[in-house]
Amino acid sequence: MTIANSTSRLNAVSAPRPPTDIRKAAIDPDFWYPVAKSTHLKRGKTLAVSFAGQPIVLVRPTSGAPFALEDRCAHRQVPLHVGQVSGTGIKCGYHGWTYDRDGNCTSVPYLDMCTLKPNCVRSYPCREAYGLVFVFPGTPDKASSVAFPELPSASDPAYKTRYLDRQVDCHWSFMHENLMDMNHQFLHRKLMGGVATIFLGGRKGDTWMEADYTFKRRSGKQPLGEKFMLGKRPDAAPEDRDLMTIRTEYPYQTLRFWTAGSKHPALDLWNVYIPIDKDQRRNHTYGLMMIRRPSTPGIINLLWPFIVWFTNGIFAEDRWICELEQAAFDNQGEDRNHEIFPAIRDLREVIVNNSRPLES
Ligand code: FES
Ligand SMILES: [Fe+2]
Repeated sequence: MTIANSTSRLNAVSAPRPPTDIRKAAIDPDFWYPVAKSTHLKRGKTLAVSFAGQPIVLVRPTSGAPFALEDRCAHRQVPLHVGQVSGTGIKCGYHGWTYDRDGNCTSVPYLDMCTLKPNCVRSYPCREAYGLVFVFPGTPDKASSVAFPELPSASDPAYKTRYLDRQVDCHWSFMHENLMDMNHQFLHRKLMGGVATIFLGGRKGDTWMEADYTFKRRSGKQPLGEKFMLGKRPDAAPEDRDLMTIRTEYPYQTLRFWTAGSKHPALDLWNVYIPIDKDQRRNHTYGLMMIRRPSTPGIINLLWPFIVWFTNGIFAEDRWICELEQAAFDNQGEDRNHEIFPAIRDLREVIVNNSRPLES
């Protein structure tokens, strides 16, 4: 089975040169990226976060929406997150200069007026949605025209949401490959048992690709994890077969799983992997795992502890193996993977063609 050929390539004359090594790809900053869970940014407090080495302070003022500034005071460059929220602004912890949400210095306590230029601290477009705080770390003028992620299941009462919020010490491209490549069920054999993955084919464009899978039991007894995830077998008629579709739509990734014959996905997962450091060898994984509530009221709450245990176990194994991949890359200094699976080859093309080279 093959993925349909791409009809076109990225060839815009003004586009930056793509990276030559996928692990040296810098994520395109001109997208909306979550950098914190809303619950971690308390009213009247600050929170230090990072995007690809850029220090950012999130501020939730005493009233109104949160805002994001470069986490450096214009005066002596100390981090603003150690300062104090002051009404609708933030006061630096050293000499008490105050900045508003646009990064303007609005007061210097020991002078009558501030003579600094407007926006003396960089401000980032900031939005809060789905229980996450997003920033736009790229060119600010583009923020209003770049699509904000749409996650209808997140506000649909038919779904219960679990948040993924973890640091993984690897380049973000490993995370895309890990989720996209369902052929790695051997890694999860203790939780999933002897499951065989059936690749059904896929589709792709310049900025996205997706792959369809179904599964069958290879051997032994069905463990609890598999029972939770899988139902009908691949030899069933297509309309009576479980279907999993995984999609990378740069820079986001989704996984949807339909049990046989269902119109609505039983699982609707949205993930994004935020580079933390300048070299982008560490990422913060944010995800919303939206699980459709069974028709029996309350049963989801009974199942929830098991769902949490199971997904934690899967994620721990994925994190372990991706960090080993990063260690191999660090040791060898270049990507030497021999990738043979067409879906992953397509994914790598999407990632490389839509990214920028890391600054040396
Ligand atoms: S260092 Fe921030 S006010 Fe002086
Ligand atoms: Fe996995």
